[in-house]
Amino acid sequence: MKLLVIGSGGREHAIAWCLARTRGLQKIYVAPGNAGTSAEHELENLPITDPQELADFADENKVRLTIVGPEAPLAAGIVDIFRARGLKIFGPTKAAAQLESSKEFAKRFMVKYRIPTAAFETFTDAAAAHAYVEKQGVPIVVKADGLAAGKGVVVAQTLKEAHAAIDDMLADNKLGDAGARIVIEEFLDGEEVSFIVMADGANVLPLASSQDHKRVGDGDTGPNTGGMGAYSPAPAVTPSIHAKIMREVINPAIKGMAQEGMPYVGFLYAGLMICKDGSIKTLEFNCRMGDPEAQPILMRLKTDFLKLLECAVEGKLDKAEAEWNLNAAVGVVLASAKYPGEPRTGNLIKGLPPANSFGDDAHLFHAGTAFNKAGKVVTSGGRVLCVTALGVNVRAAQKRAYELIETISFPGMQYRRDIGYRAINRKT
Ligand code: AMP
Ligand code: GLY
Repeated sequence: MKLLVIGSGGREHAIAWCLARTRGLQKIYVAPGNAGTSAEHELENLPITDPQELADFADENKVRLTIVGPEAPLAAGIVDIFRARGLKIFGPTKAAAQLESSKEFAKRFMVKYRIPTAAFETFTDAAAAHAYVEKQGVPIVVKADGLAAGKGVVVAQTLKEAHAAIDDMLADNKLGDAGARIVIEEFLDGEEVSFIVMADGANVLPLASSQDHKRVGDGDTGPNTGGMGAYSPAPAVTPSIHAKIMREVINPAIKGMAQEGMPYVGFLYAGLMICKDGSIKTLEFNCRMGDPEAQPILMRLKTDFLKLLECAVEGKLDKAEAEWNLNAAVGVVLASAKYPGEPRTGNLIKGLPPANSFGDDAHLFHAGTAFNKAGKVVTSGGRVLCVTALGVNVRAAQKRAYELIETISFPGMQYRRDIGYRAINRKT
């Protein structure tokens, strides 16, 4: 039996690694993959990114199921292409992926289906946007409408920052088409959590809760990134908060998408703010698993992942159950110099352990890694590696993850030293 995982990041490495535990699998192709996926026994990299060519490959090689990792191929309609050819694929259609690919679509959808979210206005005219922030004051949040790889959101603490963000996006076109329309919204104060579910169009299976660390620096300082580390479970998601999220956000979203005529099949990631007054507000929807949230979440999955995915594409998630390792998992991202700006790449990575040498309670997931001409592993992106470890609690998992990092290095390597701190500091 063959599977295909699309993407090249730490999330896709984790998805493929988790699937590789399934018995009876012959091969998991990762397209295009990274140096880490190419080094694992059951995985094989496939140097294809074009959706039509991927569909040809899946067809010719009798791939049983394709799983899409990142948002870009989903927004480009890869699911529609596969489905039109009768190929099994897990992910939302192009129309359903608008929940992530257009902030304006997502905001209007949330208003229509009464899903709690921050108050907002949409702008294409810079002068009107400038006038709006003058009236609203700061802090305020300026967001590009389209996909901007985690760089389209500016949480402005000063009017100067807010005006500069508007000019970057609307006047100077720094994010291209993605920033030709912007959403300006109310700043929300609270604790942010990632709530990811699998959906089959009608039924939902929630995955374990998690929390990401979006800012580049310790103590949540500096610019936003794609995520510098994550852990699971997130104690902020208490059983009552969990129930509230399902009731107020997830169930209305899945029902609403079906009512809109675009039933949602795929991972659905709600980025949520648990506000100080106990209310929950939806910051964003993503049409995929989080990266790096997927790494600690999948590290804890005890159920056969393929079975869950097959239930999801067959519309049988109501019959599926996921069992989680009761231990906590922490993933720490090792990033390149200058990330999240223009990261430096091509640096040799020293002290890389062989694949699977961390044992069952930890794993080194690769992201921006590639082989150079001499066959050595070098950095090839902003986020390079994600060391993920299990422990009896977040503190123990954190300790183990940081121990494993000690041998690994590359010039300019940066990482946060405090991944998991909110869970550790939390008073129970
Ligand atoms: P988004 O892509 O919309 O999730 O935004 C990226 C990050 O910006 C979020 O994960 C938050 O950390 C922050 N953010 C976005 N919207 C808000 C908001 N309304 N209030 C406070 N922080 C926000
Ligand atoms: N870690 C945040 C994201 O995947 O969007």
